[in-house]
Amino acid sequence: MYTDKVMDHFSNPRNVGEIEDANGVGEVGNASCGDIMKIFLKVEDNIIKDVKFKTFGCGAAIATSSMVTEMAIGRTIEEALVLTNEAVAEALDGLPPAKMHCSNLAADALHEAIKNYKEQNS
Ligand code: FES
Repeated sequence: MYTDKVMDHFSNPRNVGEIEDANGVGEVGNASCGDIMKIFLKVEDNIIKDVKFKTFGCGAAIATSSMVTEMAIGRTIEEALVLTNEAVAEALDGLPPAKMHCSNLAADALHEAIKNYKEQNS
């Protein structure tokens, strides 16, 4: 049902935790399943230097959180803002159709964190 990449990121998630001096934080929840994802950003000179996440959710939500942190690190905030949930799912070699909504959580939390960064720094 799940690809090797999903299983890898679920069993061995990257960038788990919090960033104490984060300058952007985003949290989203999925009302239907109750899962919650929180993303912390450290942005310097418009580049995302570090990303960490805390996800209270299903295996697919954990795998997509892990993948989105890897995809966001090193990008400019503009580049990270156009990262889509489809791109996250593709980077994991796909998700089962019933689990596609889990990848929305990852991209949305990242976008929320960037929005929060922009609000703090405008
Ligand atoms: Fe809720 Fe996957 S079932 S995010």
